[in-house]
Amino acid sequence: MEPPELSGRPAQAPATEPIAGRAPKRAVTNVNRTVRRTPTFWFRCLVHAICIAPAVWFAAHYLTGGASANPLQEATYFTGDWALRFVVASLACTPLNSMFGFKPALKVRRALGLYGFFYALAHFFIFIGIDYQFDLQLIWLDLASKRYVLVGLAALLIFAALAITSTRLWMKRLGKRWKVLHRLVYLAIPLAVVHYVWLVKADIRTPVVYGIIAGTFLILRVPAVRSTMARLLSPVRRATNM
Ligand code: HEM
Repeated sequence: MEPPELSGRPAQAPATEPIAGRAPKRAVTNVNRTVRRTPTFWFRCLVHAICIAPAVWFAAHYLTGGASANPLQEATYFTGDWALRFVVASLACTPLNSMFGFKPALKVRRALGLYGFFYALAHFFIFIGIDYQFDLQLIWLDLASKRYVLVGLAALLIFAALAITSTRLWMKRLGKRWKVLHRLVYLAIPLAVVHYVWLVKADIRTPVVYGIIAGTFLILRVPAVRSTMARLLSPVRRATNM
């Protein structure tokens, strides 16, 4: 091979010899560069930024003295609201792909579910911290008298199981049972909505709106509904070339 100076090609570092089972270093760098440039990459960044923004906003709001007289109660409501928004948003990803052919939605489905779970976890810890000072015995005694706490806890435990087993490793380990387990999301989200309906004293409009939105996304996942909608919307998919 002629030296780079003579061939007119820029001098390059010699390619790294591939080690068995590993891609050469330069190839990995090139792949990373390509991934970085794709619209899907930027869409994922946007979704992560949107999911982190409420936590950053609340921290800034609290630190700048903008919180109410009862900041912990405000934090309970705030984290509960965002938990529900993100888990409901994660349900929208499959219909967005099957109906409109919007594939990047599938790339953010897991992240949305996980952010929803983390906000729910924060919500739970803030609540048991304020109302019960982490006294587990007191919580246990109270569970029976507060039905909204009971369904909230059931939803949280399901979200925890789904979050833990959401990795590729668990997917492999559980095989066919993984899909069955992850269908529990159809139970967890309605439980979270019921939690909200039961805890509001008078105006149940907001939780009902969440219920309608979540119910619509769940219905759109039913295979017969999904294929009918995909057929009806195929001209839109073709027009937008997605
Ligand atoms: C053990 C689990 C949970 C406990 C103990 C709990 C507890 C609470 C409490 C005490 C409130 C405020 C009630 C009030 O005084 O009006 C609340 C509100 C709320 N929670 Fe939970 N929760 C749990 C799980 C969840 C989960 C898993 C979600 C959603 C994914 C959720 C979503 C909400 C929402 C949306 C609100 C209403 C916020 C508002 O009024 O703006 N909670 N929860």
